[in-house]
Amino acid sequence: MITPPATGRRCRIVKPAFALSGRWCRIVMPAFALTLLVVGLMLGAERRSNVKSRIHVRPPLLNESMQEFLVRRGYPFEDHEVLTPDGYILSLQRIPNPGAMPVLLVHGNFFDAWAWISGPNERSPGQQLYEAGFDVWLANNRGTPYGRRHVTLGEGREVDQNAKFWNWTYSTLARNDCPAIVAKVLHETGAERINYVGWSRGTNQAFIAMQDPALKAYFERHINIATMIAPVTYSKHTSSLSLQSLAAARAFDLLHRVWPYGFLSTDADYKPLNWLVQTVCLATGGAVCELVKEQMFGPSPYDDMEVISMGFFSNFPAGTAVKDVQHFMQGVGSGEARFQDFDYGSRDNLAEYGTAAPPRFNLTAIQTPLAFFRGGSTHTLGTHVRENDVYTEIRDHTKMVQELAPGVLKYDKTFRGFSHCTWAGGNAASWQMWWPDFLRVLKRDWRAS
Ligand SMILES: *[C@@H]1O[C@H](CO)[C@@H](O)[C@H](O)[C@H]1NC(C)=O
Ligand SMILES: *[C@@H]1O[C@H](CO)[C@@H](O)[C@H](O)[C@H]1NC(C)=O
Ligand SMILES: *[C@@H]1O[C@H](CO)[C@@H](O)[C@H](O)[C@H]1NC(C)=O
Repeated sequence: MITPPATGRRCRIVKPAFALSGRWCRIVMPAFALTLLVVGLMLGAERRSNVKSRIHVRPPLLNESMQEFLVRRGYPFEDHEVLTPDGYILSLQRIPNPGAMPVLLVHGNFFDAWAWISGPNERSPGQQLYEAGFDVWLANNRGTPYGRRHVTLGEGREVDQNAKFWNWTYSTLARNDCPAIVAKVLHETGAERINYVGWSRGTNQAFIAMQDPALKAYFERHINIATMIAPVTYSKHTSSLSLQSLAAARAFDLLHRVWPYGFLSTDADYKPLNWLVQTVCLATGGAVCELVKEQMFGPSPYDDMEVISMGFFSNFPAGTAVKDVQHFMQGVGSGEARFQDFDYGSRDNLAEYGTAAPPRFNLTAIQTPLAFFRGGSTHTLGTHVRENDVYTEIRDHTKMVQELAPGVLKYDKTFRGFSHCTWAGGNAASWQMWWPDFLRVLKRDWRAS
């Protein structure tokens, strides 16, 4: 299914579809962008002057490196490199505080390390962890602008259409990127233990790594606590209608057939999509960004659209592999709730895994201490819960919690009204609600007793 076409027959199917995808990009994408802009201009007309006049968030400039940005704001900075066992070279950034407890921040899907730092300093987890006395490490997964290098497959825009480079999903991140990044932090700091902080897919890949028979002992030894912001494992009930319909239409299976490469991906030196997002956000007074935010992350009375448009979205989207989204979509919607490896179909599963069904991930096997920070619904309508965080629906969350071994979950709190991105895109009131707890969790030595 993933293999490049080997027979003439398959070539003929793929080639016209491929040509179509090129035309699709050239005509449909600009038309789509234009429509968004026009609709947004209409929606945002009256908000526009308001937002512009009270913008106090100084966004990262699109031509600015992460180093220039952090140094401009008065923070120290270091750039490191991680080599994964399968040859990807990932940038790993640090706001160094040598000798202090290391904390590793792992971003979610469609984001990169910028997710933790691009808001105002006083509400950016990266800067605030540094201020609180931690040695801050900012991870980047493969496929982001900071993970577009490979020892043999090339780098930057060269890998745009390299099917081998994009042949991975979040379970690959769990097995390859995650342990390599943790090892690098341990090596550079000489620390015996670090705190792991994941957000969304950054939690998902840690769950998989921590239950993996080959990796779990390593994580148990070296992670003080894995703090999960908006933890995602089961996604059957995700309350986003657009995700449910995309999953039902098998949209990403179709897309993968014609485009087995990156999805919404950009290169660090070439970011037309990010430019488009910023331009459209600004021109529409945040209206289009708010629509996108609500569809992708859920609504929240706490979300500060100015921070989200100008800060959080400034380097969005950072991209992923189409196959990674395909894997996520396999868990959404109809059928049994599943948290399992990529499903190639029963025949190819046999070749890949030796079983007709993909292996399930076993949450019960996790022994690393866990903390959950979850956004929850503010209201219930009959049996239908309209979640504020579309990825952590209560039934999916409860199933995950019930499967954990007793005593592993050290902290589990639902913050009502938080969307999937309130953690770094919320207003000052929301920050006060979660940040003090978060610091308390990270400062404690969970192995001492
Ligand atoms: C980056 O962009 C800003 C404004 O958008 C401009 O003032 C500045 O000169 C640019 N810097 C570089 C290095 O191009
Ligand atoms: C992608 O990985 C799968 C599973 O290991 C393999 O069967 C397939 O040939 C790979 N495809 C490419 C293009 O590398
Ligand atoms: C999952 O892990 C637990 C704890 O190690 C074990 O008892 C159980 O048998 C495992 N379940 C499966 C299906 O492998």
